[in-house]
Amino acid sequence: MIQLLDVSKTFESKAGKVHALKHVNMTIEEGDVFGVIGFSGAGKSTLIRLVNGLEKPTNGRVFVKGQEMGELPKSHLRKMRKEIGMVFQQFNLLNAKTVYANVAMPLVLDKIPKQDIQKRVMRLLEYVGLEDKADAYPNELSGGQKQRVGIARALATNPSILLCDEATSALDPKTTLSILELLKKINHELNITILIITHEMNVIKNICNKVAVMEDGAVIEEGKVIDVFGNPQKEVTKDFVKTVIDDTLPEGMMKKLKRDRSNSSILRLKTIGDYGKNALLSEINKEFDITTHILFASVSELRENTLSIVIVEIEGTPIERERALAHIQSKGILYERMEL
Ligand SMILES: Nc1ncnc2c1ncn2[C@@H]1O[C@H](COP(=O)(O)OP(=O)(O)OP(=O)(O)O)[C@@H](O)[C@H]1O
Ligand SMILES: [Mg+2]
Repeated sequence: MIQLLDVSKTFESKAGKVHALKHVNMTIEEGDVFGVIGFSGAGKSTLIRLVNGLEKPTNGRVFVKGQEMGELPKSHLRKMRKEIGMVFQQFNLLNAKTVYANVAMPLVLDKIPKQDIQKRVMRLLEYVGLEDKADAYPNELSGGQKQRVGIARALATNPSILLCDEATSALDPKTTLSILELLKKINHELNITILIITHEMNVIKNICNKVAVMEDGAVIEEGKVIDVFGNPQKEVTKDFVKTVIDDTLPEGMMKKLKRDRSNSSILRLKTIGDYGKNALLSEINKEFDITTHILFASVSELRENTLSIVIVEIEGTPIERERALAHIQSKGILYERMEL
């Protein structure tokens, strides 16, 4: 649906060349809610501007629905842009126009008959929960309501793709969740593919099925959200995951644990989906001459799956502990030995 093939983008500035994107490869499939996360300056907005054809790649190719964006003649590009709705961090509403007129704008520009515009705008306002605000002006709305108007406007041309650049970054946590719920509904009910750019891991955790982590213009890690959250490889990814998934023992507890590991090991176990850790622990307690103590447990709901993390102390002789570990490994459960 959206494909970036070895895409680089270099800007010339007074201070020299800025390599905003470096050899980026990315495939976003129909129906995905694909998240791109990275710190400020990582190249996220540049990536979105290449997807909607506002910028051309310096090298590489960008395809949207099989069309190469950099190569389209202007008339085709205009048509393609109707397939792509944009949602912005600062909403980008016209303050002198009513909510109704803001949502109607893309349809007016498209010279759609007035009655059709009226029907469509009212349906969209109802869809985003703002049917009673049609005559209000943007400065009479809360941030969350403004973003709902932004989303309704982005949906006006009936796009098949929604690009969201930090759509929730100007909102408080509760409002963020309500906007994410709306985006989830749009993806699910209207079957719209969503590419969402963010620096908040919470956004990825709540609605994305796939994620790419960007650093300094390059994609450094990519995959299904559950895999990246369950087993992050790069330091930046680990730092992002830590912001939403707790997997460490409280400091006070760490201090109280014995340093001597000759009779026990401390393991961090991670399971994805149904395989309950409780069953695993009772299994190894029964089968091997060991005792287990749970020190910490957390369960995180991701969009399509559950990630459970348990930190457990296993007491027993080294041989019995190794046998228990081999059993855990044979179940395909991720584990790490923790040193205190
Ligand atoms: N038009 C431009 N001219 C020169 N440099 C640019 C231009 N647009 C972006 N850059 C540079 O490219 C790099 C990536 O910018 P980009 O806006 O894509 O980052 P970002 O990941 O969206 O950051 P943020 O989270 O702050 O929005 C930055 O170093 C930026 O200064
Ligand atoms: Mg940006």
